Amino acid sequence: MAESREKVSVLISQAELEKRIKELAQEINRDYEGKDLLLIGVLKGSFMFLADLLRYLDPKTAVDFMGTSSYGASTQSSGEVRITKDLEHSPAGRHVLLVEDIVDTGLTLRYLVDTLRARQPASLKICALLDKPARRRVRIGLDYYGFIIPNAFVVGYGLDYQERYRGLPYVGVLEETGEAESTAGRKDASGSKE
Ligand code: IMP
Repeated sequence: MAESREKVSVLISQAELEKRIKELAQEINRDYEGKDLLLIGVLKGSFMFLADLLRYLDPKTAVDFMGTSSYGASTQSSGEVRITKDLEHSPAGRHVLLVEDIVDTGLTLRYLVDTLRARQPASLKICALLDKPARRRVRIGLDYYGFIIPNAFVVGYGLDYQERYRGLPYVGVLEETGEAESTAGRKDASGSKE
């Protein structure tokens, strides 16, 4: 079975996450002082990060969610992303902070930023917990980020591998020790980010 061959080794501990998220929240509170902030979480991966960040933000901060899924590996190159859940309220005229779990190629984020810009928010910034710049395919600036990580497949703290491992309280590197299918091949082909 695949389970017996998978091993997760800690990359970012629970304590490190907590410390960094408090710092990010302080920065965000400072930058948005006197403004009504709307956090838009990208499902599913960002749910834990968003929840923890929100605990330290100004209590008037509003929250909405968007769900997306990428098309298969072959069409990912075009940056084609499908919205599986749209916002409940219009972001027009709002100060929006898009909250992502991880930026890898950047194609999902590029699509989301273009989609949200077209809806005319008063401002739009990006906050990602993890930045994996090694595989970036589009230029995209992150206004806030938690950690820069190496080119490895990570799970935990909201991030999954085939819907598993989201509940881990830390971010870990998923390693496969068996001789079965190649890890890289399987993960690259998984287009869903929901
Ligand atoms: P991008 O469009 O290539 O930047 O991919 C972004 C999405 O792919 C993220 O929001 C994640 O859902 C997923 N993803 C990318 N890298 C990883 C990883 O290392 N672990 C888990 N999910 C990942």
